[in-house]
Amino acid sequence: MFGMGNKGGSSSSKPRQQDKRKTTSSEKRTTVAKQKPYEKQTPSNFTPPTRDELLNAHHPSSRKRKPNADQLVNVQDYQTSARSQLNKSTYEYFSSGSDDQVTLAENQNFYAKIKLVPRVFVNVSNIDTSVSLSTGQKINFPIMVAPISSQEVLNPDGERATARASEAMGTIMCTSTLSSVRLEKTAQESKSLWYQLYILRDREFTKSLIKKVEAAGYKAIVVTVDAPQPGNRESDIRNKSMLPEGVTLSRLLTDLQSETNEIDNSLTWDDLDWIRSITNLPVLVKGVISPLDAVLAYRKKCNGIIVSNHGARQMDTTVSTIEALPAIMQALREEAGTNEIAMDVFIDGGIRRGSDILKAVCLGAKAVFVGRPIAWGLSVNGEQGVKDVLSILKREFELACTLCGITSMKQCNKSFVLLPGQSLQELRSKL
Ligand code: FNR
Repeated sequence: MFGMGNKGGSSSSKPRQQDKRKTTSSEKRTTVAKQKPYEKQTPSNFTPPTRDELLNAHHPSSRKRKPNADQLVNVQDYQTSARSQLNKSTYEYFSSGSDDQVTLAENQNFYAKIKLVPRVFVNVSNIDTSVSLSTGQKINFPIMVAPISSQEVLNPDGERATARASEAMGTIMCTSTLSSVRLEKTAQESKSLWYQLYILRDREFTKSLIKKVEAAGYKAIVVTVDAPQPGNRESDIRNKSMLPEGVTLSRLLTDLQSETNEIDNSLTWDDLDWIRSITNLPVLVKGVISPLDAVLAYRKKCNGIIVSNHGARQMDTTVSTIEALPAIMQALREEAGTNEIAMDVFIDGGIRRGSDILKAVCLGAKAVFVGRPIAWGLSVNGEQGVKDVLSILKREFELACTLCGITSMKQCNKSFVLLPGQSLQELRSKL
């Protein structure tokens, strides 16, 4: 098993007979040649496998039969299928949260605590789920693709497949700084990309990265601010931060030259001014949870914020994102002095159902981002798998709108949702 328990290829503690006898140098060569690249080898005969060898040996498509697509009817089905295909350390790298994974569960669970309050006798024969964004872009439905690092480990086409699928579905993908495909190559696959930026200690390098992003045609920069340091992800520690055995994250990076480019952990809000001074692209901030920070982002005239706790991979036991959203919207409305806030608010974390998306939009989000569901789609069936996952969420979302009596995104408001502790009585006053 990758990264675990495979000590020199033999599971028995008793040395086998042929292990005792001396091997000739020609035998040694044959043994090494026969060994799969990722198997443990002694330092004296170790020839590191190439990056492609490592990745090819571990792509799920080369390991298992494709599942029957008819049986994959929801996001959970895709997760189960991806889990059965990926090796343990890869699955855990993508699925896990930090510490006790309290926030990981809560990101999903809080959606179930919010109740929908449908309206009836509404003509729902025509539903328009499109959304216009402050970047000037329009998406077909309020579901966007979150930045997820090192996607080549899930499929040989990696970020390219995700970009193609997002474009085909009429939505935006945000490409990670920790991408396994060069940003220019991903940009050849879609005209609707945003770029997620980690501000690095080396500011000249950061600046050159932004220039490359602009030249490649990305439409916005999303600065992630909740990861001055990676969270405590214990399965990655147990698995020695390995994806498939032998592949460390830094080996997959393309736009960063691994260790030389550390994420800057001395950032403050002033650094956002620096970013804005060196680019004309719209700038959004990802990783806001406190209403106080949302207001600061608004004062800095950001084009948008993404209410996010990094998919529960950073600080554990933080408030879940959907729990934070109402207070953030309230704070922004008070700051703006109007209900029309000149800044897009997005949300991610734990969104697995169309009804989750409807709740988020009714509570003020322009659109949601999904992370892991995309990774599962990519693992199970590459570009088509990503399209299928987005289609499932889109279909569920349209059904939720239909059944709640909502025909356009402008109609979404908080009268359709009941938060924990609220009573239906309170909803009447919102009419
Ligand atoms: C992420 N996320 C992330 N965010 C970011 O800004 N830059 C990155 O490189 C990554 N990489 C990354 C890898 C993996 C494996 C995961 C699971 C997440 C966070 C991501 O953009 C998003 O905030 C969450 O994934 C949203 O939560 P869900 O949809 O996965 O529950």
